[in-house]
Amino acid sequence: MFGVLGAMEEEVKALRMSLARPITKTVLGIQVTSGQLDGTELLLARSGVGKVNAALATAALVQLGATKVVFTGMAGGIGDGVKLGDVVVATDLVQHDIDVTAMGRKPGELLDEPLSWPTDPALSADLALAAAAHAATVHRGRIASGDQFIASPSVAKRIAAQFGAIAVEMEGAACAQVAAKLQVEVGILRWISDTADEKASTDFPAFCNHIAELDLAILRTLVAH
Ligand code: ADE
Repeated sequence: MFGVLGAMEEEVKALRMSLARPITKTVLGIQVTSGQLDGTELLLARSGVGKVNAALATAALVQLGATKVVFTGMAGGIGDGVKLGDVVVATDLVQHDIDVTAMGRKPGELLDEPLSWPTDPALSADLALAAAAHAATVHRGRIASGDQFIASPSVAKRIAAQFGAIAVEMEGAACAQVAAKLQVEVGILRWISDTADEKASTDFPAFCNHIAELDLAILRTLVAH
C-alpha cells in the first residue's frame, strides 16, 4: 500500500480532498488519513517541516501498513540546469547538516551508517514516468536534506559541490533513512520552488499554492500504473 507524505498543508491538501471514504487516525502523534484515490487504497499524512517530523511520520505510515512511502513537496534547485518548476526524483539522499568530521567521518556521515540513503529504483522510475506526464523537465539525482531553509548562493554551491546534490529540502533523507531501517520502499519527488538564493524566501510561498494540483495529478498517474 502507498503511503504519501508532504511537510506542509499546501502540499497534501488537494490529495486529502480527493480521497474517497477518508478515515483519519492519530498514530505516533501524526494524523494519518486513509482513503481511496481512484479506487486505490492509500495513506496520507502531513509530517510537518524538518527531519525529525519526517522520520516520525514515515514510521506512522509504516505502522499502519504502508509498504511504499512517497514524500512529495518542494525543494530548492542547486544543480546545474535545475530550474523553477522542474521536478527532481531522488536517486539517493544525504543529510547535509550532519558533521562528525571531528571523529574522522565524512561530512554528512553518522557513525557506522551509510553516507547516503538510496530510494527504491523501481518506485523512483515509476515516479519519474508519472512526473514526466505533468512536468516540463524531470531530473534524477541526489537530494540533500537538512534542518535549514537554504537562501544563500554560497551555501547552495557548497552543498552541491560537497555532496553532489542537485536539490535541497528539509525532510527526504530522514524519510529514506527510516524507510531503509523499516525495510519499506521509498520514493522522493520534489518540485523546484526556488533556487536556494536570496529570492528563495519569496519564491517558495508563491510556488506553494501552485504545486498541490500538479502533485495530485502525478500521484493519480502513479497509483493507476
Ligand atoms: N524547500 C524548498 N526550498 C527550499 C530551500 N531553499 N531550502 C530548504 N528547503 C526548501
